[in-house]
Amino acid sequence: MLASNQKRLDPMTTLLEFMTAAHRKCDEMFASAEEDVSEKSWTLASQKFAEFNAAIARHLAQEENVLFPAFEEATGMTQGPTAMMRMEHEQMRSLLAQLAEAAGTQDASRFLGLSETLMVLIQQHNMKEEQMLYPMCDQALAETDAIIAKIEAFSGDPV
Ligand SMILES: [Fe+2]
Ligand SMILES: [Fe+2]
Repeated sequence: MLASNQKRLDPMTTLLEFMTAAHRKCDEMFASAEEDVSEKSWTLASQKFAEFNAAIARHLAQEENVLFPAFEEATGMTQGPTAMMRMEHEQMRSLLAQLAEAAGTQDASRFLGLSETLMVLIQQHNMKEEQMLYPMCDQALAETDAIIAKIEAFSGDPV
């Protein structure tokens, strides 16, 4: 079951809080998978990496298909921060695909090298969202509860 379905929304939840919680959850999943790779516990590592990969793919898709379009529509800003975030998502996807390959071939040194790079990219990306874009979304969007409900309901399948 996906983590974001586990908790019901507090009516005062901001987009910043809701989306930041998803970042933390993905961070934990990634760190845990990485630990198993470094111990070469491949069965567990592969399973945890697959779960992390699915969780982050869903988060990126929720942003690109629900949150960013809502922000772009409300502000008219289509070439601003969301365009940059979309580009960074593509960089993450490329690294995630390479990590999946490394997990598939049980190549721990390649996996750990790539995961280091992805961790740094994710931390920098998340900081921009948490310090800039999400607060801007909370400001710009009136119906944040409705947006959060849409994000939760989004399956992650490309539209
Ligand atoms: Fe993002
Ligand atoms: Fe995000």
